[in-house]
Amino acid sequence: MLPTGSVLIPGLSRVTESRPPSAVAVAAKGLEVRFSDGSTCLDGASGLWNVMFGHANPRVNRAVTEALETAGYLKCFETSNSYAEDAASALIAECPAFRAVIFSTSGASANDLALKLVRQYAHHTGRPQRNGVVALNGSWHGLTFGAFSLTGEQLGQSMYGVDRRFVVHCQPNDADQLAALFEKNGDRIAAVFVEPVLGSGVVELRQDFLDVLEQLRARHEFLVVADEVTTGFWRTGPFLASSRWSFDPDIVILSKALTNGTCAASAVLLGPRLHDALQDADAVIAHAETQAGTPPSCAAITAVLAEGAALDAVHRANQLSQALEERLTALAKSHPAVASFNGLGAMYAVEIHDLDGTDSSALAAIRDCGALVHKSPGGIQLMPSLMYTDDDLHRLFESISAGLSRWQSSARS
Ligand SMILES: Cc1ncc(COP(=O)(O)O)c(C=O)c1O
Repeated sequence: MLPTGSVLIPGLSRVTESRPPSAVAVAAKGLEVRFSDGSTCLDGASGLWNVMFGHANPRVNRAVTEALETAGYLKCFETSNSYAEDAASALIAECPAFRAVIFSTSGASANDLALKLVRQYAHHTGRPQRNGVVALNGSWHGLTFGAFSLTGEQLGQSMYGVDRRFVVHCQPNDADQLAALFEKNGDRIAAVFVEPVLGSGVVELRQDFLDVLEQLRARHEFLVVADEVTTGFWRTGPFLASSRWSFDPDIVILSKALTNGTCAASAVLLGPRLHDALQDADAVIAHAETQAGTPPSCAAITAVLAEGAALDAVHRANQLSQALEERLTALAKSHPAVASFNGLGAMYAVEIHDLDGTDSSALAAIRDCGALVHKSPGGIQLMPSLMYTDDDLHRLFESISAGLSRWQSSARS
């Protein structure tokens, strides 16, 4: 049943999908989300993986409110504003391997921008024929036309006429396939786009794959783009998941937790090779968005970084990871519905026996038992906020266990 008078079609939902009023969220604070029927749920997915420091985080809210009261809107187009300058400096202080920041408004638009940058780099370095890019099967880079061409999940790219002539997809962690692609087309490839940990199913790129990527980059001089929209902001432990690699990517894309979910924003970080080439060419980058780099979004970014430092986010992420591992190990041993689990940091996928990848019935049962978790291929995904305490984790796992039992018995009846 659609809520009375609803004319809304939420993202990626079926146009005819029924939405009982109890599914409409009306408020959120800390780790709790409240629905229009008065029920509340513990958020085990940190919003859409973006509310790293709890809903309505006071520090971030204060910063956004102050920026709105002091400045409202100031552009970051041909000229800049002090909020954007401060947020960019704070990001580079956190990521000193990078030289400059460009703000955008979503993960997808930032991937579009990165696609432009890698081709502009090829142009300025005298290799304009390098217009191809490699991305990974099963990846998610967003749904605008450029990002959609990179996204390795099949979501109707052909129907929408998404131009994939310049994109080749490779199997994650298949180093031989990656090497073969470069053997054949190395002089036409401008960049390789990867998520350090693929969000869907939580697939971490293995060291052997990264080693080959690093060797190929040294030989063919393409750019490596780390899409850290999900993995950035301590999701896997360190601020950037790619900081675990033995080499720095040339571009990092951040979004999701960048504003703790308060404002639409993303940031593209430019490494020295790209930045130097653009500087040497005195380039103008043809990317600008009216709502990018605004005072409230940039105040939120600066506040999120300050909150991360104040809360010792790295330590929190590592402790949470350990606690999640322990609880998932216990759940996998005790609950017959659980087949396996995998993940790191504060991102874990749990494979459920006999659950079709598109079926959300287990998710609904867990929600009925008081917790929101995300769907993953053949299971559920836990993406908790770094604010989780042991008591919160206890509640989360009670809800998951009860929900899975309920789901199993309803599947049997
Ligand atoms: C790794 C990654 N890149 C890009 C995106 C797209 O971000 P947005 O939904 O803000 O366009 C997502 C969204 O989930 C993502 O996980």
